[in-house]
Amino acid sequence: MDGNGRWAKARRKPRISGHKEGALALDRVMHYCREEGIEYLTVYAFSTENWNRSRAEVTALMNLLSSYIKEKSDTLLKNQVRFKVIGRRSDLSKSLQKSISQLEEKTKDGQFTLIVALSYGGRDEILRAAEKYSGGGEEAFSKCLDTADIPDPDLIIRTSGELRLSNFLLWQAAYSEFYFTDVMWPDFGREEFDKALNSYKNRERRMGSRKGVRK
Ligand code: IPE
Ligand code: MG
Repeated sequence: MDGNGRWAKARRKPRISGHKEGALALDRVMHYCREEGIEYLTVYAFSTENWNRSRAEVTALMNLLSSYIKEKSDTLLKNQVRFKVIGRRSDLSKSLQKSISQLEEKTKDGQFTLIVALSYGGRDEILRAAEKYSGGGEEAFSKCLDTADIPDPDLIIRTSGELRLSNFLLWQAAYSEFYFTDVMWPDFGREEFDKALNSYKNRERRMGSRKGVRK
């Protein structure tokens, strides 16, 4: 979900207003996913590196997260959304950790899974998994990751013109397709979503084998 800050700057607004607009974009995209029968949506909301931002922005982002969880919890439950957080959650405040676990527990039977990466870094996740891993190969290792019960992403979209993975789902992205767009995350709407999805649909996925994999 990249480009919130630049979206705000272009409108001479504070960065946090870009983040707020970004949260609205998330709600819209979740809706499009459901219309398309997509069952899992993972969003990169806060990276292990984002702690290095100004204290004011970190606090504002954490407050935005807390209020998002508080305000949306009933809607998520009602809409059959299973909420799940991946990342180093011990970095978060005790109260945020508590509201996250409560929401995860409350929504655990939801049909659609919204995964929010918080204080997340792919390398950090792999290191934590390595501490738990006691052999058994790739599948067993996958079960030690934060995404243990979540399938690998088919498509990874990055907005705002950056052409990097930035430590997102490093292990899980092994065979993912990528879509990059210059559009800033708050402006990512239905048209952009369809473009990304159509681009994905027109690709042949071979997953390392010679024969195409049907989607
Ligand atoms: C993405 O927007 C949201 C977070 C990382 C929290 P940015 O804050 O990275 O926006 P830009 O990249 O400065 O435009
Ligand atoms: Mg950015």
